[in-house]
Amino acid sequence: MYDVEKIRGDFPILHREVNGKPLIYLDNGASAQKPQVVIDAITNAYAHEYANVHRGLHYLSNVATEKYESVRGVIARFLNAASEDEIVLNSGTTEGINMVAYGWAMPRMQAGDEIILSVMEHHANIVPWHFLRERQGVVLKWVDVDSTGALDPQAVIDAITPKTKLIAVTHLSNVLGTRVDVKTICTEAHARGVPVLIDGSQAAVHQPVDLRDIDPDFYAITGHKLYGPSGSGAIYCKPERMAEMQPFIGGGDMIKEVSKDGVIYNDPPMKFEAGTPGIVQTIGLGVALEYMMGLGMQNIAAHEDTLRDYTVERLAGLNWLQVQGTTPDKSAIFSFTMDGAGHAHDISTILDKKGVAVRAGQHCVGPLMEHMGIPASCRASFGLYNTKAEVDVLVEALELAHDLFA
Ligand code: ALA
Repeated sequence: MYDVEKIRGDFPILHREVNGKPLIYLDNGASAQKPQVVIDAITNAYAHEYANVHRGLHYLSNVATEKYESVRGVIARFLNAASEDEIVLNSGTTEGINMVAYGWAMPRMQAGDEIILSVMEHHANIVPWHFLRERQGVVLKWVDVDSTGALDPQAVIDAITPKTKLIAVTHLSNVLGTRVDVKTICTEAHARGVPVLIDGSQAAVHQPVDLRDIDPDFYAITGHKLYGPSGSGAIYCKPERMAEMQPFIGGGDMIKEVSKDGVIYNDPPMKFEAGTPGIVQTIGLGVALEYMMGLGMQNIAAHEDTLRDYTVERLAGLNWLQVQGTTPDKSAIFSFTMDGAGHAHDISTILDKKGVAVRAGQHCVGPLMEHMGIPASCRASFGLYNTKAEVDVLVEALELAHDLFA
């Protein structure tokens, strides 16, 4: 049984007050809070087991290396990848997608080649592709979402032309909560010879991810949203794509030999991991993923779907609130605007006074905001520790805000 009160006990920050009120943390889309096991793992690593990895032959370096390297296998298990050799460790999704843009896409794309994106991509899955547009004349093709925020996989496939070199789409929108049928996109794109990169930053937090079933070419995740430390993350790369990719950042660790005349690179995936990595952050991420798997990803998804349904029901009663993203196939992420409210920031400030933490602004999705025709919104994004009682407090705080604006 999923005991949310017991789970809340694992997260010390959830017991603090903000502005004299109990914290209601609904900004998980931006970054999630950390369980005590992750905090303890970080402290333990620095207090007792810290040294640089892969370099020393001394005891502490070996311990740190073993702990750090074991996380590759944890991530492979979490994503059901076939091998830990398919996992490149990094600082998060932004680095992962930039690695693919610089190391895989730039050397193989020319002016006029096309990359297909959905209009609801996060800037991390837009700006690296704009680099290719600006520098190499690559064309970005945008696929719209419908009025409910759903993305039709067929619309993505219909955008493919002989010039298409890559499809880059999110698995789950950070603003609308929309789940995307990435399996169909991968199957149909591959049948037409087009590789697919998936931004899994949000999806991996809220639902089980089975890469052997989805079969993407690249799948990026970020640790700080997965209840792990900031500065940790990974990207899955299909072995064929990894073999095609050039290193993006050069330095120590990613090489076997360096001479005045040249470099012999390390074997993948280490070929793509230059410099001293986020050692402790990665160790913390491994513990966070074990924690999530211990709760069970299906159980987390079921709990959050219950919260989603309850929130849909409660917000439906507020006829002065406009929720963006109403497709039923979504996770518990709610973006909204309010009649009479000047700016989303004003709503979030009032919610904050009630201890409710939400994000307000553009949420790093400029093209989606343009598509929806709004300058900004407020977003309540739920996590594995949120409760129905917290939804009630959110609704009370929204009613207060509406009364103040009326
Ligand atoms: N990507 C993060 C968000 O959606 C920062 O808020």
